[in-house]
Amino acid sequence: MKQTARARSWMALHICHICHIWISLLLLAAPSTQTWRQSLPRLKLSHKDLLTSNSCISFLGSAEGFDFQTLLIEEERGKLLLGAKDHIFLLNLDDLNKNIRKIHWPGSKETVDMCRLTGKHPFRDCANFIRVLHIYNDTHVYACGTGAFHPVCAFIRMGPQAEEPVFQLEVNSLESGRLKCPFDPLQPFASVLTGEHLYAGTVSDFHGRDTVFTRSLGPSTHQNYIRTDLSEHYWLNEAKFIAAAPIADTFNPDDDKIYFFFREATEDSHTSDRTIVSRVARVCKNDAGGQRSLINKWTTFLKARLVCSIPGHDGVDTYFDELQDVFLLQTRDPRNPIVYGVFTTTSSIFKGSAVCSYSMADIRAVFNGPYAHKEGPDHRWVEYNGKTPYPRPGTCPSKTYDPLIKSTKDFPDEVVSFARYHPLMYKAVHPLSNKPVFTRINVDYRLSQVVVDQVTAEDGQYQVMFIGTDVGTVLKVVSVTKENWETEEVVLEELQVFKGHSPILNMELSSKQQQLYVGSRDGLAQLSLHRCDTYGQVCAECCLARDPYCAWDGTACSRYLPASKRRSRRQDVKHGDPVTQCWDLEDSMNKESEEKLLFGIESNSTFLECIPKSQQASIRWFVQRSVDDIREEVRGDERLIRTDQGLLIRSVERQDAGVYLCRAEEQSFSHTIGRLRLKVIDNEQIDSGQREESRARDFGHESRIRYKDYVQLLTSGSFTVDDYCEQLWHREKRRQRNRGPGKWKHVQEAKKSRNRRHHR
Ligand SMILES: *[C@@H]1O[C@H](CO)[C@@H](O)[C@H](O)[C@H]1NC(C)=O
Ligand SMILES: *[C@@H]1O[C@H](CO)[C@@H](O)[C@H](O)[C@H]1NC(C)=O
Repeated sequence: MKQTARARSWMALHICHICHIWISLLLLAAPSTQTWRQSLPRLKLSHKDLLTSNSCISFLGSAEGFDFQTLLIEEERGKLLLGAKDHIFLLNLDDLNKNIRKIHWPGSKETVDMCRLTGKHPFRDCANFIRVLHIYNDTHVYACGTGAFHPVCAFIRMGPQAEEPVFQLEVNSLESGRLKCPFDPLQPFASVLTGEHLYAGTVSDFHGRDTVFTRSLGPSTHQNYIRTDLSEHYWLNEAKFIAAAPIADTFNPDDDKIYFFFREATEDSHTSDRTIVSRVARVCKNDAGGQRSLINKWTTFLKARLVCSIPGHDGVDTYFDELQDVFLLQTRDPRNPIVYGVFTTTSSIFKGSAVCSYSMADIRAVFNGPYAHKEGPDHRWVEYNGKTPYPRPGTCPSKTYDPLIKSTKDFPDEVVSFARYHPLMYKAVHPLSNKPVFTRINVDYRLSQVVVDQVTAEDGQYQVMFIGTDVGTVLKVVSVTKENWETEEVVLEELQVFKGHSPILNMELSSKQQQLYVGSRDGLAQLSLHRCDTYGQVCAECCLARDPYCAWDGTACSRYLPASKRRSRRQDVKHGDPVTQCWDLEDSMNKESEEKLLFGIESNSTFLECIPKSQQASIRWFVQRSVDDIREEVRGDERLIRTDQGLLIRSVERQDAGVYLCRAEEQSFSHTIGRLRLKVIDNEQIDSGQREESRARDFGHESRIRYKDYVQLLTSGSFTVDDYCEQLWHREKRRQRNRGPGKWKHVQEAKKSRNRRHHR
């Protein structure tokens, strides 16, 4: 009995998905503490830091919670269209706050009233949230909004490109947005407009039950919708659409396809376990629907699983199943962009996210491979081994291949019915190098968005990823391939783009402007792709940064442009080794850095602050007790505690006095970043102060406060004798007015008056 129970639990351990994750997590955590440390962001900039570095501009609109989630960059016009709640803004790419124009487009009164009557939230749901913005032709943009749970679409007149945009809603073009735009403002949704056709992955009904991938608009000759088949739930099952894009497959335009990416629910027919999986799917651009069973339905629809996982030891992988965002990095060959996806884990216990990249060749290989087959509702998907009808389902019709099949309407019945029951490919698409390019595990946030920029550096091409999170930050990451083909993920910066911490909803990159546009619930920000001067003032610091955008130009860390053939440009993204690049390494211990004076009171604690700019630097402390003494390294113990912010001396002793040097070491480069002279005031001086205090009862604790002021005066460079006199003067006045004010009030008042700086 006992034995079977144990056997059963052993089985359970091996079946349960969460356990798998835990096992692999344990395996992951153990050997890779080093790598987790490695991927710490080198630089962490707060929202304030970004504003002072002049590399971030925020546009907040006029009200709170606008939901800035739809962005359209019009690079030619230098404009950005921003879809928000009841508004479309027209902004300048170079400065979001210059010449703002807007279209006010609320839902109609009847639909808003109706939306409220059905119990939807009046502010969060019952407004027109703009979700579709696409360039339609040279003069018009196509736009759709949720219209208070009643989707609407219309054209926006922009006028000729050479002129300042007209920017006007064409009221007579208003039409229903059903099957083109979601009802729910928060529903994940994807659309793309190409060849005057709109392709959209959305929900088709008010309740959000049926999810569809549709084609609409287009030349008036075929205005009817083409859509996925609803009768078979395994075409799409509660799909959450993430992205759609036209990609050519061969040189023959008849082969052009629309690829789209989503996640959906699957049910295991045996255990009825529901899981979420991510998918890549495609349809032919020239799909006109079928005859009989698939009239106005896609006949070329195929989908495959998109896997993003970390291979574990013992073959137990950690899966990131939920696709959150997709970015296509264009290469020289338009048929072969690199596909980047952001994924998160499904488990509520194990919080993790990853970025995986895929090649189109791998994706095509899966679509050209075996189909998955399901014998009936109670069966599993297995590999289909039977005869495949001709033309192979999923192939686009083309006269060049077969003159008898000019359109999908010419497909034989056999092909159409096979297509209907075999939308899924048997094999899954695996990421390049079989592992993620970036992971974040055991952090209290998730990755939500990604864009990638191809950057040319001195030592080669780099793909710099800008990754948005659900806490309003952007990580700038570069994946460096080493000589042995191992990759190293280098987190260059962690940027708090918004003051608040609301999730990042959308990001678009403009290479021309060298800017990233970041949308969140609370605002839109434009963020410079680089701020090289924040890395430091010497060559070594610029080199250690390993930022492909930046190089040492002889006098400063500045934007690296490969076109300028300047010999003196110093950069080493691959290794970040300043020794091979820089001559300013002789910043020895003797080099003067500004000395700060600090007073410690015997037997009390004191803190020597020193925070390196780079989070990857390690700090070493040295002390020279007197001029003749040799400099020695401070070894931490229970009295001298080394923290991330500095050195804490718990109980100051007389012999602690001396000059303390804080040195930051990173790779082979080390330099002094702080120099503090600690003076120790012994207890006798304090005791005499206290005796004096007890004698002078009338003055309360006056003398101790004065003594503190004295220490403050000596310690702080900016606190002058003037300030001290002013403080005393104020204090006297107040004491006359009102006896015995609190000690802290004194201090606060003193601070205020220091800011005011009146001289009396
Ligand atoms: C663009 O499309 C709109 C809407 O169909 C149309 O009115 C306009 O004439 C078109 N412009 C051009 C340049 O074709
Ligand atoms: C030193 O520390 C003690 C408590 O640890 C405190 O009561 C005393 O006021 C401190 N002395 C000074 C001068 O701040």
